[in-house]
Amino acid sequence: MVAAETNEYAPERVALDLRQQGFSIIDHFLSLDEVTEILNQIEERLDNGEFKKAGIGKADDYQIQHSVRGDLIRWIDEAEPIPTNSIFLPRIKAVTQDLNKYCFLGLVEFEYHHTYYPVGSKYARHTDTFLHDSSRVISAVCYLNINWSPADGGELVIYDTDQEGVEQTITVEPRCGRLVIFESRLWHEVLECNAERRSITGWFRNERKLF
Ligand code: OGA
Ligand code: MN
Repeated sequence: MVAAETNEYAPERVALDLRQQGFSIIDHFLSLDEVTEILNQIEERLDNGEFKKAGIGKADDYQIQHSVRGDLIRWIDEAEPIPTNSIFLPRIKAVTQDLNKYCFLGLVEFEYHHTYYPVGSKYARHTDTFLHDSSRVISAVCYLNINWSPADGGELVIYDTDQEGVEQTITVEPRCGRLVIFESRLWHEVLECNAERRSITGWFRNERKLF
């Protein structure tokens, strides 16, 4: 029997997960057809050279260090007429409203980009909050890797501490259509990719960007 491909998004469960463990995994947030449509447009932009090496830090601190972070990114404006905006954005906006309703997070904005990890790249352990800017509250990654298998690597590892203060690691496989959301303050890393890896990556913010 073929596994049912129903979107597993359930706002109450996500809220509970976030409260209890700081992260939540939602399988089939996008269907295979939806992922395929989004990927076609991403491939066009990759071919056009629109993806740029991602850096670390912000403004004056900004650096590109390939050994730390090897992905390429293309920021998305919500006015662009692309499948990511017609398919993914309305769904993520509903998540924003639910997170505010169930977790009182005061989220006002979602910033996001397409992400491409070439074979051999990774993103070393980091957090998504900047030194002088904690407006990123929740990180979100939606994976677009059709037929991902463990041999492909590129798992997301989240580090968390339990109630006794003992560090725990959670390994998230970047399976096609899966959305993972987690508190941006948590340490996490992307393990080395043995196959190309694509995603939509974004952050729910509690302040609007001023620039
Ligand atoms: C990031 C990040 C995780 C992932 O882009 O900041 O941590 O699984 N991504 O792609
Ligand atoms: Mn990150």
